[in-house]
Amino acid sequence: MQAAATERLIAPARNIEGSLRLPGDKSISHRYALLGGLASGTSKFENFSTGADCTSSLACVSALGARVTRKDDGTVEIVGTGGALTPPASALDCGNSGSTMRMLSGLLAAQPGSFTLVGDASLSRRPMERIRKPLAQMGARVELTEGHAPVTIHGGRLTGIDYIAPIPSAQVKTALLFAGLQADGTTTVHEAVRTRDHGELALRAFGAKVDRSLDSVSIAGGQLLTAIDGAVPGDISSAAFFLCAAALFPGSNLIFDALGLNPTRATLLDVLTALGAHIGVLNLEEKNGELVGTVQVNAPPKGLTGTTVSGALAAQLIDELPVLAAIGPYTQNGIRIRDARELRVKESDRIALVSRNLRAMGAEVDEFEDGLDVPGGQTLYGAEIDSGGDHRIAMAFAVAGLRAQGGTLIRGAESAAISFPEFFELLDRVAVR
Ligand code: S3P
Repeated sequence: MQAAATERLIAPARNIEGSLRLPGDKSISHRYALLGGLASGTSKFENFSTGADCTSSLACVSALGARVTRKDDGTVEIVGTGGALTPPASALDCGNSGSTMRMLSGLLAAQPGSFTLVGDASLSRRPMERIRKPLAQMGARVELTEGHAPVTIHGGRLTGIDYIAPIPSAQVKTALLFAGLQADGTTTVHEAVRTRDHGELALRAFGAKVDRSLDSVSIAGGQLLTAIDGAVPGDISSAAFFLCAAALFPGSNLIFDALGLNPTRATLLDVLTALGAHIGVLNLEEKNGELVGTVQVNAPPKGLTGTTVSGALAAQLIDELPVLAAIGPYTQNGIRIRDARELRVKESDRIALVSRNLRAMGAEVDEFEDGLDVPGGQTLYGAEIDSGGDHRIAMAFAVAGLRAQGGTLIRGAESAAISFPEFFELLDRVAVR
């Protein structure tokens, strides 16, 4: 169901202060939902993501025969299907969630029967050929409409493949590992850029053997999964908005407890450090293979410097690039982004929307096919922001609004709930006005 359109007025802030414990990581929650649905036994996940995207994954595994309960304290319990998913009577609704559609396709490709996956208008525009091709090589019949959803999968017996990923994508890698888990023989995915490895770590946590080399990951088929109990680490991509906000105000002090610090996701901490922010990490521990810790951020007294994000860094920071670009005008030397063509096929064309909204706020910005140049040393003015129904655009410009002259009106603010329903409330809590 589509949430009613809402607007949010962001007033400028003087500082950012406080401490936050964030809802569970979206990427990890999706994987736990899907594998919990496939496993034998009852899994329990504390701090499961509160975002609508992960609710889509839970609804799909529930429609496929798993029993899903969400407790008042945020814990999700899943009674798995013991490896046998049942084709539902109607289409599986993935909502706005590319992760659900792509990773579930991998899981279903090995299951006997036909499954149709649908999504909302944004998801129905996103490329699905990237999963169709390798899954077809493994033996599944996958039907798309001009490369897009609806996706219909005629699943069955699969054979492992050796696949060289043409674009860096953790969703595609994970889909192939989920299919490979149930295939005959071994499936290997070679990736030129090491993308987030939550799929590998989750598979191991559920008892599967996954082999990793420097640039590839392999899984043998025919392995069975056993339910787990776990706590999902706080979402570092949600923290990104607050980290960037805090980095804008000399004197800020923000602490995150139990934040996910998986090295394939924590690149923003290195970038902010390179920009001059002070980032402290404490109490590191490992939970189901995932690193978790306390993070403290303080801004540099003279403001952030500037940087270029390109190559492998662009792929690793892909979800954080909108907010990094949105704070670019407030840096001394600007933010330059290249090799980030994938931003054009996310929930919106994020390159186009970031530049349009920065211009609406009075900034100078140059748009490229694969990135942006956002010069530093600029003043932004409160304006009307078009989120394009994209959660990360809505939140990125709420952060930009904190240091603008005048109020910033975020249109389509409800989209934040796709990954982070608590965002505006928490922003109000830590923004000192
Ligand atoms: C994700 C991978 C990335 C990312 C998305 C979540 C995942 O997408 O942008 O928000 O959980 O695997 P791609 O795999 O398309 O790069």
